Amino acid sequence: MTICIGFISQKGGVGKSTLSKMLAREYASNGWEVKIADMDTSQGTAYNWNSRRLRNNIEPAIRVEQFRRVEDVMRVAMTYDLVIFDGAPHATKETLQIAQVCHLVVLPTGISLDDLEPTVKLAHELKKEGIPRDKIAFALCRVGNSDPEIQEAREYIQNAGYLILAGEIPEKTGYRRASDLGKTLTETTHATLNKQADLLAQSIINRIQDLTKE
Ligand SMILES: Nc1ncnc2c1ncn2[C@@H]1O[C@H](COP(=O)(O)OP(=O)(O)OP(=O)(O)O)[C@@H](O)[C@H]1O
Ligand SMILES: [Mg+2]
Repeated sequence: MTICIGFISQKGGVGKSTLSKMLAREYASNGWEVKIADMDTSQGTAYNWNSRRLRNNIEPAIRVEQFRRVEDVMRVAMTYDLVIFDGAPHATKETLQIAQVCHLVVLPTGISLDDLEPTVKLAHELKKEGIPRDKIAFALCRVGNSDPEIQEAREYIQNAGYLILAGEIPEKTGYRRASDLGKTLTETTHATLNKQADLLAQSIINRIQDLTKE
């Protein structure tokens, strides 16, 4: 069976590509055949990142391909164990299509109300279009160092009726540097940053296992 996961958002720059790359790396390093479908053909963030990864000979190698349409991805999906959709921003037709074909959609979000409100709105829209609540999970990205602020964001999402994944990604230069070299959030030169990112990676993996077990 091919497992499909989508990273989608209304707002840009929230961490969709960053989390797509991290999750791909975690599964690929466990021997899974993984494909990132970069759905943002105008930017090609994941695709360009992978060129840097290949140039720097970083293992495991990850396959990234740009696609314009979800149905084009699904035509080749069965040759992979895991397909990760790195979505384009805005609630486009593709965003809904990604949610329809995926076992899980992760909505990365910052923790200000300006970030949380449109993310919850997108989740509500998906639900209205028939996506089960169970298939939707929120992930906190680019957070600051205030624990109360993070806690409030978690409560905001819970009160809206959605699952908020354990672990969050702080905004750090070390993560940016790693990305510039074609590495992921779990491959930085700082053990603490890798460990922090691994908490979120693991909670996504656990959620996927829960949703796909028979
Ligand atoms: N935790 C972090 N710390 C520092 N920089 C980060 C972090 N997360 C993401 N970034 C940087 O922020 C920018 C946006 O992240 P990313 O490309 O993952 O967002 P996105 O949601 O895919 O954006 P888009 O909507 O444009 O596709 C990138 O330059 C990325 O390297
Ligand atoms: Mg992106």
